[in-house]
Amino acid sequence: MQHHQGAHADAAIRIDEARGRFSVSRAAYTDPALHAAELEEIFARCWLFVGHDSELPKANDFLTRTIAGRPVVFLRDKAGAVRCLLNICPHRGAQVTRQKRGSAKLFSCIYHGWAFENTGKAISIAQAETYHPDFNAAGANDMVPVPRFESYRGLWFLNFDANAVSLADYLGNAREYVDIVMDQAEARMQVVGEVQEYSARANWKMLAENSTDILHVETLHPTYLDLIRTNSEGTIVRGRVQGKSIDLGNGHAVVERVASYGRPIARWIPLWGEEAKAEIDAIFARLVKSYGEERAKRMAYNARNLLIFPNLVINDIMSVTLRTFQPSATDYMEISVWAIAPAEEAGKPAMARRLTNFLEFLGPGGFATPDDIEALESCQRAFAASREAPWNDLSKGLGQAPDATDELPQRVFWLAWRDRLMQRKAT
Ligand code: FES
Ligand SMILES: [Fe+2]
Repeated sequence: MQHHQGAHADAAIRIDEARGRFSVSRAAYTDPALHAAELEEIFARCWLFVGHDSELPKANDFLTRTIAGRPVVFLRDKAGAVRCLLNICPHRGAQVTRQKRGSAKLFSCIYHGWAFENTGKAISIAQAETYHPDFNAAGANDMVPVPRFESYRGLWFLNFDANAVSLADYLGNAREYVDIVMDQAEARMQVVGEVQEYSARANWKMLAENSTDILHVETLHPTYLDLIRTNSEGTIVRGRVQGKSIDLGNGHAVVERVASYGRPIARWIPLWGEEAKAEIDAIFARLVKSYGEERAKRMAYNARNLLIFPNLVINDIMSVTLRTFQPSATDYMEISVWAIAPAEEAGKPAMARRLTNFLEFLGPGGFATPDDIEALESCQRAFAASREAPWNDLSKGLGQAPDATDELPQRVFWLAWRDRLMQRKAT
């Protein structure tokens, strides 16, 4: 069965180096057998983003989420430790808590009333005296934690494969790019407001492709570009985007380039006024002091879109966002987005600038997201013709000098996808 899916995956990618052509089968966005294989070989084996540390500011805070179809509780226990428990009752399987978020020292199941501490420890079982005396042995009826749960720079990930490599090893070269985002904060980055959730009638892999696709920005988002060209008058960087896309290994990739818009850290535009200039100069001076001139310039003036395989995107562009998407069906995904910002910006004008940037472009009602969703859904609808017109093209830049608008990140993603489905990688 798995071997058979591997053969499917192998046939889904066609590379013709001699003619500089890299093609992906459109059936890979619609085939239920490949979708099932992805759930097994990718989503049950890779590290998947759950949430940010700052979403659980206090002991006993909890959030419920669905990760790769499994209900989980992401929580800070009474002693302050962050945990991730499967939200399934050890008795007969009801969701132990049905709230989206809250604060609770105990969870008690609605079905028959079994109760648990927020460490997962069972503390009460209905009519315990009617069970065998050994039934209540310590640990025998506790809520089950996810097999692996680790964090990097405040980002918590789970893995459903108990034998997976460590998160640090899995992230590998992508860690440098997570660092360059998280280091922008003096203290630490934190989530601003709550998670934003929306969905798209499109296969999840299209958002992985779209998130590191710089080629579409000019054509798909002209309204926004007109706005930033007006807002950035006098500082606009015209012509080709200066930068490149980089294969980070394990399916991770990044596009790093010179930003042509205002960045809260720390690229000033006239629209923001003279007062903001002083504030941004001070932020830049702090970055130079902490990291040296070269790295400070890279942090301030460059933008980056990072894909951590399979489904976490960190956009460090005109604001910073975390984005993850769940593979609900071949033609449907559920998307979660968080704005993150340095904790020290709270209540300052810098935060207002950042959130305006976020809302204008990246938010679900911004200038970009509805355009992107429409493009992705348009592809999904057109894939109904994939038997007659079977191939998507991802050749841009193949064998050429690196360019920020290459389709290299998409090729990196698909090659990792194929390796996973063919079980070629141990990590
Ligand atoms: S299913 Fe939870 S107490 Fe029975
Ligand atoms: Fe876009």
